[in-house]
Amino acid sequence: MKGKLKLAVISLLAIPMLLQAQVRTEQTFKKGWKFTREDSKDFSRQDYNDAKWQSVTVPHDWAIYGPFSVNNDKQNVAIAQDGQKEAMEHAGRTGGLPFVGVGWYRLNFEAPASMAGKKATLVFDGAMSHARVYINGQEAGYWPYGYNSFFVDATPYLKANEVNTLAVRLENESESSRWYPGAGLYRNVHLVINEDVHIPVWGTVVTTPVVEEGFARVNVKTELVMPEGKKVSDYRIVTQVKRADGKMLASDDRPGNKLDATFFNQNFVIYNPSLWSPDSPVLYTAETKIYEGDVLKDEYTTRFGIRTLEIIPDKGFFLNGKMTKFRGVCNHHDLGPLGGIANEAGIRRQIRILKDMGCNAIRTSHNMPAPELIRACDEMGMMVMAESFDEWKGAKVQNGYHKIFDEWVEKDLVNLIRHYRNNPSIVMWCIGNEVPDQWNGNRGPKLSRMLQDICHREDPTRPVTQGMDAPDAVVNNNMAAVMDVAGFNYRPHKYLENYKKLPQCIVLGSETASTVSSRGVYKFPVERRSMQKYPDHQSSSYDVEHCGWSNLPEDDWIWHEDNTWCIGEFVWTGFDYLGEPTPYYTDWPSHSSLFGIVDLAGLPKDRFYLYRSHWNPGKETLHILPHWNWEGREGEVTPVFVYTNYPSAELFINGKSQGKRSKDLSVTVENSKDSISTAEFKRQQRYRLMWMDTRYEPGSIKVVAYDKDGKAVAEKEMHTAGAPHHIELVADRTTIDAGGEDLSFVTVKVVDKDGNLCPLADNEIRFKVKGAGFYRAGANGNPASLESFQVPRMKVFNGMMTAIVAATDKPGEILLEATGKGLQKAVLKLESK
Ligand code: GAL
Repeated sequence: MKGKLKLAVISLLAIPMLLQAQVRTEQTFKKGWKFTREDSKDFSRQDYNDAKWQSVTVPHDWAIYGPFSVNNDKQNVAIAQDGQKEAMEHAGRTGGLPFVGVGWYRLNFEAPASMAGKKATLVFDGAMSHARVYINGQEAGYWPYGYNSFFVDATPYLKANEVNTLAVRLENESESSRWYPGAGLYRNVHLVINEDVHIPVWGTVVTTPVVEEGFARVNVKTELVMPEGKKVSDYRIVTQVKRADGKMLASDDRPGNKLDATFFNQNFVIYNPSLWSPDSPVLYTAETKIYEGDVLKDEYTTRFGIRTLEIIPDKGFFLNGKMTKFRGVCNHHDLGPLGGIANEAGIRRQIRILKDMGCNAIRTSHNMPAPELIRACDEMGMMVMAESFDEWKGAKVQNGYHKIFDEWVEKDLVNLIRHYRNNPSIVMWCIGNEVPDQWNGNRGPKLSRMLQDICHREDPTRPVTQGMDAPDAVVNNNMAAVMDVAGFNYRPHKYLENYKKLPQCIVLGSETASTVSSRGVYKFPVERRSMQKYPDHQSSSYDVEHCGWSNLPEDDWIWHEDNTWCIGEFVWTGFDYLGEPTPYYTDWPSHSSLFGIVDLAGLPKDRFYLYRSHWNPGKETLHILPHWNWEGREGEVTPVFVYTNYPSAELFINGKSQGKRSKDLSVTVENSKDSISTAEFKRQQRYRLMWMDTRYEPGSIKVVAYDKDGKAVAEKEMHTAGAPHHIELVADRTTIDAGGEDLSFVTVKVVDKDGNLCPLADNEIRFKVKGAGFYRAGANGNPASLESFQVPRMKVFNGMMTAIVAATDKPGEILLEATGKGLQKAVLKLESK
C-alpha cells in the first residue's frame, strides 16, 4: 500500500505543469514523452495506458539507434539524375537505418485552472513525417511534410485544471527520400498560451526599407488575432526597438489605425545602425506589447538585423553595398551520429568549423531548416539560402513530395517564409532542387513562376532561386529566365553560354563540386578519376575524385574568382551526411556520403584545408598530405600536396629539398579547359602546390612557405609515426551547460609515444563517462563501418574518431575515460554548469 502511494506521487510529479502567470507563455515539451513503434487507433485515446512504452526526450530520432541493415529501405531503382539506365539495388541510399514505418509519441501534461478561456497553440518545429496530432483523443491537426514547421490550434481540445494528453502519430514511407531523413519528433514541440486577443505564431514582419549612411528606417507590422467583432483600433500597440545589450533606441506607442484590418503598422528610425553581416552579426529586437485600455494583452519579441541585399546584373551580389561572393556549402539536416535531431551544440559546432574554413553561407539542402540553425546563423554570422523542396510535380522517388505537391506546396512555402522572414541570416529563398519538372517545358517555367510569386508575396525583400542541373533544358524552356537568380547545379563549363542568354546577367553556383574523399585514405597512382570505386568502399583524399556530373573544387573557384557575374557557390557538401554513399550505390556496407569537406564525425578532411587556403586567405593554412606512413612503398612515387594560403613553398623529405612550387596564376578558364589540362591538373596548379614525383622514404617531411616577396614565413613538419602508444582526447568545449541537452565533442586520437597521429590505426576504443554526464554517441567518419553510434566503443578510423559527451540535468564534473588494448588510457575532465 505504502509503495503504491509513493508511485502515484512520483508519476504526478513527472507530469509537466504549464506555467500560467503572464499574458503569453511558451513551454517546450522535452521530457516525459512515451514512445512506441507499434501502431493502433487506440494510442490516440486519452485513457490508453502507455506505461510500458519507452520513455524518451524530444527532440528524438527513432531510427538513428539502428541497427544498420542492408534491408532498411532498400531501393530497387534507376537514379535517372545520376545517369542510371536500369534499376539496381541501392543499399545505403537512405543510410540503412530503420526510419520507415509508424511511430507514436504520447505526453501527459497538466494545464492550470488559470488557462480557462485562453488560446492555446501547439507549434511543431518539424515532425518526420505525416504527423497526426491528437489532443485528449481528438484529432487536432495534420502536417505531412516532415521538414516543415507547423502549428495547430489546441484551444478547442485542451482542458484547464486537468491532465491533458497529447498523442502524435508519425509515418514514414519506404522510397520517400534520396537520403536519410530521420524519424519521429526530431525537432522541438512547443505550447503557446495566449489571451483571446494575441499576436499569432510568426505574426510580425520587420523590414528595413531604407538603410543609408548614418540611419535606417525600420518597419514593424504586427498581426493581431481578435475575438469576433473587435478591430485593431480597439487596441493599442507599444513597440520598443532595442540593441542586443538592451539599450532602447526608439519606441512607438499608438492605437490601431481604423484603416488597418488586422495589422498594426509602425515605423522607426535607427541612427548609426550597425549592419548585420557574417563578419559582424549585429542583432536588434523589437519588443511589442498589446494593450486593451490599460490592460496588457500580449507581449512579443522579434529579433532582426539591419542589412541590405542587392543583385546587380553583371556586377554580382552585394551585401551592405559590398560585393560579396557566396563561399557556401550545402548541408543536409542530420548531425551524423546524432541523427536528424535539432541539437544546438551540434549545429553551433558545425558553424564554428565552417566559419574557420572561411565559409560564409549555408544552403539548407533540400528542405526547411530547424529554427536552432537559423538562430545560430543569425548570431554567429552565416548567410543562409533556405530551401524547400527536392520534388515538385515530377517524381524522383516513388513516395516523394510529388504525391502531395498540389495540396501542400503553397502551405509549406508560406510556413517556411513566415517562420524565417525576420531572420537576417536568410538572404535568399530556394524553391527547389533539380526538380524533374525542369525537362517539362509546359510545367517547369509555370511552376517556377508560381512558387517564386508566393515567395515575393510573403517576402518582397529577398531574391528567389532554385538549383537546376539541366542547363540546356531550363535555358531553352525559360525556366531559368523566370527566376530572380538563376542557380545552376554543376557544369560550370555551361556558365558562360547561359549567362549570355539569360536576362539576369548573373549566375549562381547553387550546387558545386561533389568531390568525393574519405578522411585519411590515399589511392595510387594519383590520377583524376570519375565515379571510381575501390574494394574498401572509400575515395582518395588526394582530392582528385568526383562524380560523373561533377568536378574538383578548383574547377568552380576559377569561374567565381575571375567573373563578377558568377556570384559564388554552394559546395556539395560541407559535412558528410547519412545516406547517398555515391559512388557506392550498391556496395553495402556504405551508409553515408563521401562528399563532405568534413567527415560524418565532424573531423576535417584534407579538402577542408584546401577550401580554407582559398576562402580564408587572411588566416595561415599550411597543410601537407598524404600522411607519411607508407611501409612497403619505399622508393615508390608518392606525390605530396600542400594546401596553403601562401603563394609558394618548398618541400623537404628527410632534409633534402624536393624543389619549390608556386601557384600558377597564369592559368585561366580558357587556357585550362581542354581534356589534357584537365587530366594534368592545370586548374589545380593555380590553387594547390603539388609535387607529383616525390618518392616515399620514412622519416620527416617538411614544408617551408614563402610570401609574395620570397621570404620564408611559415613551416610545418610531419613524421612517420611509430607504433600506437596512447590515446589523446581534446574537447571542442570543456565547459558545457547542465540541463540534459548540451554536448561536448571530443576528438579522440591514437598517437605514438611522441604524440604523432598514427594514421593507419584502427584500435577499438572503449569509453566510460562518470559524474554529471553520459556518453551520447560516437562516430569515426568511416562510411563502411556498421558500428552502433550509441554503444560506447568504436574503432578509430585512420587514427581518429569523435566521442560525444552529454551533460545531465545536474551541474558538476564529468570525466570521460578512453581505453584501448595496448594503449595508455586517457581521461578528460569536463565541467557542466
Ligand atoms: C545533386 C543533388 C544532391 C546530391 C548530389 C550528389 O544532383 O542535388 O542532392 O544528390 O547531386 O552529387
